[in-house]
Amino acid sequence: MGGSFPAGFLWGSATSAHQVEGGNVNNDWWEFEHRPGTAARWSSGDGIDHYHRYAEDFALLRSLGHTAHRLSLEWSRIEPAPGEFSRAATAHYRRVLTALTDTGMTAFVTLHHFTLPRWFADAGGWLAPNAVDVFARYCRYVATELGELMPFVCTINEPQMVALHGYLEGYHPPGLADDGLWRQAGGQLLSAHFAAVRAVRTAGERSQVGLAVQLPLLAPARDDEECRALHRLLRGEIVDRYLDGLTGPDRGDFLGVQYYRKQWVDPRSPTLFADPPPGFRRTQMGWAVHPDGLRQVLHRAAGTGLPLYVTENGIATEDDTERIDYLHAHLGAVAAALTEGVDVRGYLHWSAFDNFEWSEGYRPKFGLIAVDHRDDFARIPRPSAYAFAKVAETGRLG
Ligand code: NOJ
Repeated sequence: MGGSFPAGFLWGSATSAHQVEGGNVNNDWWEFEHRPGTAARWSSGDGIDHYHRYAEDFALLRSLGHTAHRLSLEWSRIEPAPGEFSRAATAHYRRVLTALTDTGMTAFVTLHHFTLPRWFADAGGWLAPNAVDVFARYCRYVATELGELMPFVCTINEPQMVALHGYLEGYHPPGLADDGLWRQAGGQLLSAHFAAVRAVRTAGERSQVGLAVQLPLLAPARDDEECRALHRLLRGEIVDRYLDGLTGPDRGDFLGVQYYRKQWVDPRSPTLFADPPPGFRRTQMGWAVHPDGLRQVLHRAAGTGLPLYVTENGIATEDDTERIDYLHAHLGAVAAALTEGVDVRGYLHWSAFDNFEWSEGYRPKFGLIAVDHRDDFARIPRPSAYAFAKVAETGRLG
């Protein structure tokens, strides 16, 4: 292990509103969590009460060497009914972003991180004919009200996963499994990104704006034509469509890259993905650990010509030593990409805290900081939080 990072490289972690705030009862996820028979078997409930504890959370992260922090705004709080914006929710997020800025950390603000207001989902969600315009109206409002507190804006978190999990795998809301709708939703999400870039820019030139994509390293499970064909299709729909689609003036100013694992495409598997082959460490999510994949996907993302930020990377594990290994190995991959000329400007770990992992509930532990959501919500930094602080503070690995 080794490697160093340039001065000014941003170091931090990420969360999203629904996973940490608690009490987000007016979005499609809350409905999905409470509807019998869906893939979600847990209620997000109180989250980790970040809605009330944000100021102490930011102070803790800053004390652990973080110079940046990524969070998301909860659309269903800001626009509880179509076209009706909540002054109180806006004031809340103004206080949140002010507290974050006051610590000296740089804010990355995601406008849409998986959750939709219930009224938007009920009207057809991303498949509704006016979905893009409705999203753009919300983005314009937020950028106008809070723009000066948002140096970096991520328009949409992982559009490919919204489309794949929600419309093909049925694992996220709306819980559909339809090949045609999967692709249609993906198209709408990409259009929504362009519209959001325009909306944020129209509201004032205060933010750098970009898409946050998840880029798994995809490989065929076997060397046969059936596997290769499905690999081409999935790589096309999950990776190429979005990266190659980022052309034109509205593509944004940067690209957020989110990387977790290598995946093997297998047409014989009902999920389309095979179990990892022996020899790969598996996380609590069952995901295969493959640090060099991060270096490879950064190279692929660099092909867009946009400056890159790693806006998520992390591991679900009960074994914090494993988290430290994962962290160091993946930071090594970022350092290697830098040495090879890739323009990466920051690294945000997923996640700051243990939190609500969607359909998997609170079981996976992704946090640098442990939180028992059933107890008093006390924040307890793990050794990995100090290992991360050391790299952030020295700009060096090892
Ligand atoms: C991607 C998502 O953006 C985030 O919400 C999720 O918790 C992590 N990956 C881990 O699955």
